[in-house]
Amino acid sequence: MTLTRAHIDAAADALQAVTAVRPRLGLILGSGLNSLADGIEAAHVVPQETIPGWPRSTVPGHAGRVVLGRLAGETVFALQGRTHYYEGYDITWVPFGVRVMQRLGVDTLIVTNAAGGINADFRPGDIMVIRDHINLPGLAGANPLRGENDPELGPRFPDMIDVYDPDLRRLAHRAAGNLNLRLQEGVYAFVGGPSYETPAELRLLRAAGADAVGMSTVPEVVVARHAGMRVLGLSSITNMAVPDPVPGTHIDHEEVLAAGRDVVPRLTALLQAIIADQAHAS
Ligand code: HPA
Repeated sequence: MTLTRAHIDAAADALQAVTAVRPRLGLILGSGLNSLADGIEAAHVVPQETIPGWPRSTVPGHAGRVVLGRLAGETVFALQGRTHYYEGYDITWVPFGVRVMQRLGVDTLIVTNAAGGINADFRPGDIMVIRDHINLPGLAGANPLRGENDPELGPRFPDMIDVYDPDLRRLAHRAAGNLNLRLQEGVYAFVGGPSYETPAELRLLRAAGADAVGMSTVPEVVVARHAGMRVLGLSSITNMAVPDPVPGTHIDHEEVLAAGRDVVPRLTALLQAIIADQAHAS
C-alpha cells in the first residue's frame, strides 16, 4: 500500500492536538544517536506507536519517539528512531516522518546516520558531511516518490542537484573548525540491507565513487527535497566497509551502536553549533 495524504494528515493532526510547538527544523537521529534529543527543552515526547499510521521501527537502538521542542534557539521536530526499508515497509512509507514534518511546517532537515567508511582516509569515529548520494534501490525503481504524485506535496520530477544544501555544508565545516573537530565530506551510498555488503559489492560501491555506505537517510532526503526543504546530512562512520579487511574482521550491529555512542558528544556539539548558526543565518 502506498502512502497517501490521508495517512499523513491523520498523523499530523494527532501531533497538533498534543502540542502547540510549530517546528521549523527536522532532526532524524540514527543508530545509537538517540541521546542527541536529550538536549531538547520543553519537549513533548510522543511514542510513535500512539501516532495514527506511524510505521514503527523494530530495530534495537532505535527508540521510536517523536520529540518536539526547542534546541539551540530553534523549534525542532526530532525523530528518535526511524523506519528502514529493510523492515519490510513499502518504500513510500519509509519517510513517513518527513511528510508529517512537511505538514507541520518544517523547512530544514538535518539527518544523521551510522555508516560504513569506504574511503581509505576515513577512520571509525569520523563524522562525514554528505555531499551527494547514490540511491541504489531508487535507481532500480524503489524510489520513495514512486506512485501517483500529489502536486501539493511537490513536483513529479524533482531535481536532485545540490540535494545537500551547500550553505549548510559550509556552515557545518565552519562549526567543526570552531570546535576543533575533524570533519570529513563525501558521497553516501544507500543500500537496501539488512545484510552488510560483500567484498565484491564494496568494490562496486568504491568504483562508483561512494565514500560511505548505509541503509537509511536517502529515502527521507529524497522526500525532503520533493517537499522543498533544505537538507544537511551527517554520517557517523562506525566501521570501515572495505573490500580487503584485516583477515578475521566482521561487522556486527553492536559494534555499530557502540561506535555511534562514542561519537555522540562530538556530534551533539557539532549539531548544536550548526543549529544555532543556521537559525541566525535564515
Ligand atoms: N554497511 C551498511 N550500513 C552500515 C554499515 C555498513 O558497513 N555500518 C553502519 N551502517
